Amino acid sequence: MKVVATYSIKGGVGKTSTAVNLAFEAARTGARVLVWDLDPQGAATYLFRVKPKVRGGSKRLVGADGELAAHIRGSDLSPVHVVPADFSLRHLDVHLERTKRPTERLARLLEPVERSYDLVLLDCPPSISLASESVFGAADHLLVPVVPATLASRTLAQLTTFLRDEQLPVGVLPLLSMVDQRRKLHRDLTEDLRRTWPQLLPTAIPSAAAVERMGEQRAPVGVFAPTSAATQRYRAAWGEVAAVLWPA
Ligand SMILES: Nc1ncnc2c1ncn2[C@@H]1O[C@H](COP(=O)(O)OP(=O)(O)OP(=O)(O)O)[C@@H](O)[C@H]1O
Ligand SMILES: [Mg+2]
Repeated sequence: MKVVATYSIKGGVGKTSTAVNLAFEAARTGARVLVWDLDPQGAATYLFRVKPKVRGGSKRLVGADGELAAHIRGSDLSPVHVVPADFSLRHLDVHLERTKRPTERLARLLEPVERSYDLVLLDCPPSISLASESVFGAADHLLVPVVPATLASRTLAQLTTFLRDEQLPVGVLPLLSMVDQRRKLHRDLTEDLRRTWPQLLPTAIPSAAAVERMGEQRAPVGVFAPTSAATQRYRAAWGEVAAVLWPA
């Protein structure tokens, strides 16, 4: 089982869209996929049409008697399983704080489902907190959507410096997100980012109306626009991520 977190300190960069679409693409190829929605906004939960309910709240989810299996739900849309989020996750840090080893807690909770899934995707809220550190302790790789903007490189550098200083062994896979090829600024910034960050995934996710429509369709883009350019890019990106996770 591999654990990948869609993570960024920045909000609105495409974390949830990436998690939901890559989960769908991974499941399409036959992988057993679990999406754990860690964001109190519950956007991934919503997109998979799962009821936004954490039974017993975040206290029960991560507390001493917490058992992840009790929180897993099926999605009628796809074979992807979901650990839904609700507003109680705003207290996730408080309840993690009360556990013995907060930064190892999410990894511990995932241990019992190790044999049940090939891929776990953790969809994170935009922050850097105790919960993020627990994510860094649980994930093999952080998939970091990067929007071509002037401060994008700085944000990525802050993250990689933090991980290095804390000696966290998690890998960082930046992924270009919401790229508008018609804009010269986007083309220039993309070029700069590729030079600075050779680990950027080759495939970039374009800015696409189909991705924006996920909210009204409540589905991964591959469900309602299977032949769209966006779906093709997510499919290609998933292939590249899979090649990193399971090298031949
Ligand atoms: N490739 C894309 N093209 C067009 N719109 C996109 C694309 N990716 C994401 N969006 C839109 O941008 C908004 C933010 O996307 P998303 O929710 O995936 O980001 P996020 O990083 O998870 O946000 P948050 O930090 O709030 O969790 C959404 O309205 C989404 O529909
Ligand atoms: Mg999100």
